[in-house]
Amino acid sequence: ADSEIIDQIRAATDLAALDALRVAVLGKSGSITAQLKSLGGMSPDERASEAPRIHALREAVTTALAERKDALENAELEQKLATEFVDLSLPAPERASGSVHPVSQVMDELAEIFADMGFSVAEGPEIEEQWFNFTALNMPEAHPARAMQDTFYARRIDGDAAAEAHVLRTHTSPVQIRAMTSQAPPLRLIAPGRVYRSDSDATHTPMFHQIEGLVIDKGITLGHLKWTLETFLKAFFERDDVVLRMRPSYFPFTEPSAEVDVGWSLEKGRRVVGGCEGWMEVLGSGMVHPKVIANCGLDPEEWQGFAFGTGVDRLAMLKYGMSDLRAFFDGDLRWLRHYGFRA
Ligand code: PHE
Repeated sequence: ADSEIIDQIRAATDLAALDALRVAVLGKSGSITAQLKSLGGMSPDERASEAPRIHALREAVTTALAERKDALENAELEQKLATEFVDLSLPAPERASGSVHPVSQVMDELAEIFADMGFSVAEGPEIEEQWFNFTALNMPEAHPARAMQDTFYARRIDGDAAAEAHVLRTHTSPVQIRAMTSQAPPLRLIAPGRVYRSDSDATHTPMFHQIEGLVIDKGITLGHLKWTLETFLKAFFERDDVVLRMRPSYFPFTEPSAEVDVGWSLEKGRRVVGGCEGWMEVLGSGMVHPKVIANCGLDPEEWQGFAFGTGVDRLAMLKYGMSDLRAFFDGDLRWLRHYGFRA
């Protein structure tokens, strides 16, 4: 009967049958397991003669099982190698790949345009001290201009009631202050980044993107500002007939101040063209207020400059013809596939 077990193992035709055999002999209630258990009830003499046989059998069965398993697995592999093959002439399956978000794309375009004009890139924190976001920008406490921007205030968790709350920066202008207080002029920089205001509709989202521009040097005039904005907007919209309109405006940190509109036309796919049907406000700008320059420890008699701030998302909408700003941040794959840029 012992050799019969071995024969059965050698004859097993697949791995499942082989495993069933293993369980039948070596499992908890397998035949060899039962024989091993019976050793306990034998007389010493009987055990002395039976034990070697049973152990040898278990040894032989274990070896036979392993050999057969190897053989069956090899056969299975041979079978696969013989029947499965890769057809290299078939087209490769399409791979899902991401795309560059339009905001990132426009940020990159802007950084490149300004790099060509000699501007470097500066950064600042999104959770900002009020001094940088407001006070140094000529918006002292209780100044009505602070209410112009619907500010998110960050609650302090360190229990320091006397310390001022931080804010989510409402614009990129605090980076002007950070630059002027940490670098020696002349300065020529842009500061791209996220800004936050408590506001939400088709053209406003609580988080949006701005790019700030700052030039501080000697003898800087409004003419330099106008040339810079014209050059940048023509490069950005990739056409020479972009029309600009500078409207007198008010910002506490610039004097004089101007808001800049670009003309747009519906016929030409909502791109900015010469014969325009409407105006779209794209940026705020002006000559840096002497008080702001003084707040940063510079002498306004010696240093002048201009600054501007523009909404990146809005520029993207204008250039690529998107209508709802909220779609930028919905993460809808159909929208992203439509407007996203191949990496
Ligand atoms: N910080 C202003 C805003 O967010 C824009 C601006 C920047 C205006 C620089 C003038 C100069 O509305």
